[in-house]
Amino acid sequence: MTTRRHHTLALAFLALALAAAAAPPQLAPLPQVTILATGGTIAGTAATSTATVGYTAATVGVAALIAAVPELAAVARVSGEQVFQIASENMTPAHWLILARRVDELLARDDVAGVVITHGTDTLEETAYFLDLVVKSAKPVVLVGAMRPSTAISADGPMNLYNAVALAASREAVGRGVMVCMNDRIDAARDVTKTNTVALDTFRSPELGILGVMEGGRPAFYRTAERAHTTATEFDVTNVKELPNVGVALAYAGSGRVAIDALVAAGVKGIVNAGVGDGSLSVEAKAALVEARKRGIVVVRASRIPGGAVARNGEANDDALDFVVADNLSPQKARILLALALTRTADTREIQRMFRRY
Ligand code: DGL
Repeated sequence: MTTRRHHTLALAFLALALAAAAAPPQLAPLPQVTILATGGTIAGTAATSTATVGYTAATVGVAALIAAVPELAAVARVSGEQVFQIASENMTPAHWLILARRVDELLARDDVAGVVITHGTDTLEETAYFLDLVVKSAKPVVLVGAMRPSTAISADGPMNLYNAVALAASREAVGRGVMVCMNDRIDAARDVTKTNTVALDTFRSPELGILGVMEGGRPAFYRTAERAHTTATEFDVTNVKELPNVGVALAYAGSGRVAIDALVAAGVKGIVNAGVGDGSLSVEAKAALVEARKRGIVVVRASRIPGGAVARNGEANDDALDFVVADNLSPQKARILLALALTRTADTREIQRMFRRY
């Protein structure tokens, strides 16, 4: 090849290199986040813009929820699926199983970075904790709702949805378990609870506090959840057609044994007793629970008090009665863990271990 030709080729390569260097960097595509819509107030509508109660939940579809927040396009590539369209007081374990399967299917895809679930706030904490125990991926799963319907002045849904999608799209959210993102706060599924019937900042983790906050569409974390979750749990609902039936009995002055006997008659496999104080049992309630235990029903002593753990062998001799204590789980969350535990064992020592681990 002549020298002249060498020079021409060298100049051509140089020109290509300079052109490549001058071209804008190819930005990586935004993460793909799928929104699974289930209903609730975030999808609610009211007759007037000032109505924040007495509205109709679960009327706005997922496409409209996404269209109402065009800013989502700056943080993620978003797709939506309408899994249910219900007020969350109607959510059931059967819904949870459907949701869990769809979440696992989506997160198993390489192109999906995270999932957001829009949900009514009334039972949001229960769905979140169930998914925290069964989802088999480290990718972010974020539950979000609203306390004002979409038609309200200063509706909180759009900003809550934006933050939830931004959180689900963030690398920092990987491996932290299922989270609830409302009112700029990030809470762990296990610890969060609805604390106020109407306030925008209703979701709190009263004893253990938030995991972090959303600031300008970015998460700022301050702690991690200590208890095992998602890929670290022993619970797999892939082949579970129906969760074992577990009921909750609320104790109050004079409550006696009526609710407990009714649960036994209904054929439950487990009873969570939401006792007074440190899980204390009245004479009648204790007698009813002892009888239930003799029928093979697993009994968990929880408390109606929102803070603190129920001490084992404190207000009752759990060793002698063969009862389990709920640690610091609320009665409604203890019920979820007991139902999942019963998919694996009826051994109360094993179940007590699970209440210490999850
Ligand atoms: N019906 C309630 C529910 O769907 C409304 C509460 C809400 O979503 O904020 O949970």
